[in-house]
Amino acid sequence: MRLSASLSLAVLALASLTATSQTASAPKARSAPPQVVAPTPPMGWNSWNFFAGKVTDKDIRGAADQIVATGMKDAGYIYVNIDDTWEGERDARGVLHSNEKFPDMKALADYVHSKGLKIGIYSGPGSHTCAHFAASLDHEVQDAELYAYWGIDYLKYDLCSFRQDVMTKQAPNDKAEQMRLMIDSYDKMGRALMSTGRPIVYSLCQYGWDAPWEWAPGIGGNLWRTTGDVQANWGSIYDIINQQAGLAKYAGPGHWNDPDMLEVGNGKLSLAENRSHFSMWAMLAAPLLAGNDLTNMTPEVKAILTNRDVIAIDQDKLGREGTRAYADGEVEVWTRHLSGGAMAVAVLNVGADRWSSHPFHLSLAKLGLHGPQKGKDLWTGQDVTLTDNQPIELASHDILLVRFPAPK
Ligand code: GLA
Repeated sequence: MRLSASLSLAVLALASLTATSQTASAPKARSAPPQVVAPTPPMGWNSWNFFAGKVTDKDIRGAADQIVATGMKDAGYIYVNIDDTWEGERDARGVLHSNEKFPDMKALADYVHSKGLKIGIYSGPGSHTCAHFAASLDHEVQDAELYAYWGIDYLKYDLCSFRQDVMTKQAPNDKAEQMRLMIDSYDKMGRALMSTGRPIVYSLCQYGWDAPWEWAPGIGGNLWRTTGDVQANWGSIYDIINQQAGLAKYAGPGHWNDPDMLEVGNGKLSLAENRSHFSMWAMLAAPLLAGNDLTNMTPEVKAILTNRDVIAIDQDKLGREGTRAYADGEVEVWTRHLSGGAMAVAVLNVGADRWSSHPFHLSLAKLGLHGPQKGKDLWTGQDVTLTDNQPIELASHDILLVRFPAPK
């Protein structure tokens, strides 16, 4: 990778500063405690699911423009996150430079900020990222300070080569020690970010290994991936939904389970699948990071991503993640308790072949509800009253999402 053209004096000054701070023992206290960062699940857009390794500075600026132009910003999408493949090489002082696709990171960050948005970046604890670009091993403090200098607001930190570089090298036959090394590496970057004094959302990406929901909040993680990578197909999306059961108690303001970024509008997902995917991410209090091509978004996809009622479920300030109340064959019922005593109920047809001649009958009693319940269908926008044993017809992979303001 060719280095970016210009080296700013400020970065050089930063390099000498970091040469000493890299070895400093006690990090300064973070000025913003983790619960101030990401009090609700982060919302924004990330480059990976659509652009992958092809992403450029121009694409990021274009995404920022589109987030504003499409009304996504007004709907709550704030972070514009650059994923893997922005990285160039380190210079003699160890300062990492962006590659030729990203000529000036500070200018890019300024541009994104000028739109009233925030900017995210990507690295990992190993020597290399998953796409084989330079990562932060042995340069954690230096990189964190560089991000802060650029004005970065969000870091996704991806395990990748740390497995080979450190885990299997240092502890070839000791899985527990490997996991300890992994946790240490995340802790190290967590401290480095804190010591910058800049509030930076810290997103752990290690595919849910060794129950990150148990230790990530303690090392300053604001979100942690709970599974492997999402793909733009129903099998992958449902597989991930299924793996979230049991994790709700670990989520709350400032610390969220991350079932991975959105594929809404990508691949061959049907509108029903896009709706269900988005609804379930909202039920799961998941980060809502769109991953589609915003310049060529269809009106239907835009309507899904900007559905304020569904976004309000995701962003509910109580921060209680939804849970699967029960499953009946291929239909699942999930509930989420919301602030003010409200409740969201999702009825999801996960199967491919339940026909309307066999409608599903919703048991309100199983949800602890008694008698008819008044609410709003968040996809039609209509008021609805659901009664116990209500027959519900859902197309394959479609969802009914209802908010009851005063369930009883
Ligand atoms: C891993 C992550 C993805 C993406 C790629 C980039 O696979 O899980 O989300 O960041 O790396 O290389």
